[in-house]
Amino acid sequence: MSYAIVGFGKIGQALAHAFARNNMDVTVASRRSPEELAPQARAIGPTVAAKSLQEALKADIIFLAVLFEQHPEVAKALPSWKGKTIIDTTNAFGVPPEDLDGLPSSAFVAKAFDGAKLVKGFNHLGAGTLVTDPVIEGGHRVVFLSSDDEDAIAPVADLAKQLGFAPVKLGKLNEGGALVQARGRTWGSLIFQDLFKKQQ
Ligand SMILES: NC(=O)c1ccc[n+]([C@@H]2O[C@H](COP(=O)([O-])OP(=O)(O)OC[C@H]3O[C@@H](n4cnc5c(N)ncnc54)[C@H](OP(=O)(O)O)[C@@H]3O)[C@@H](O)[C@H]2O)c1
Repeated sequence: MSYAIVGFGKIGQALAHAFARNNMDVTVASRRSPEELAPQARAIGPTVAAKSLQEALKADIIFLAVLFEQHPEVAKALPSWKGKTIIDTTNAFGVPPEDLDGLPSSAFVAKAFDGAKLVKGFNHLGAGTLVTDPVIEGGHRVVFLSSDDEDAIAPVADLAKQLGFAPVKLGKLNEGGALVQARGRTWGSLIFQDLFKKQQ
């Protein structure tokens, strides 16, 4: 399984730290050139490689770590997303619900990434928290995973475990997943809950 992070801002870098901490390879990309991103990537760790967006999109599992408003631009980068899993870290806070065709924001994102499997996750904590080691004595920081595609969650849960997190599955995007979605100017009730699970 190969991994990439698209968007190398606060959340992208926090995720890159998690890969580096666990000595796992990850490719990072943004609209900037790999040369521009390389010093920051190198500073995080030797397993973090800056590449072009097209190179990064060769990965099997791709974290979408751009602003919600920026996702359509990323979605245009491939003609088909078949075979890819997108982990949607975006929060559509402040986006009018009527702009989302009545869907949870991640279901709206899923429509743009035609053919991909989409899992919502790694979005419920501030970047300053997400960047810290999720392994504490006797426990692991919880990440919530939700998806309308049941098969998609297992590999993302495996990845979360490899990164030191404790994945908790919430079910479908409009069911348990609603607890980790922003809607208009409100936050789902699990957003910002920094929870730990006892040793798995
Ligand atoms: N910050 C938080 O604490 C936090 C917490 C939870 C969830 N989130 C969510 O996580 C997502 C990322 O937030 P952030 O705070 O990390 O934002 P950010 O610091 O603004 O980073 C966004 C990144 O996306 C890149 N980008 C923008 N358009 C792109 C495109 N078309 N293709 C490739 N890369 C592109 C930007 O880099 P270039 O300008 O170089 O392209 C930048 O590195 C947001 O949806 C946010 O709601 C944030």
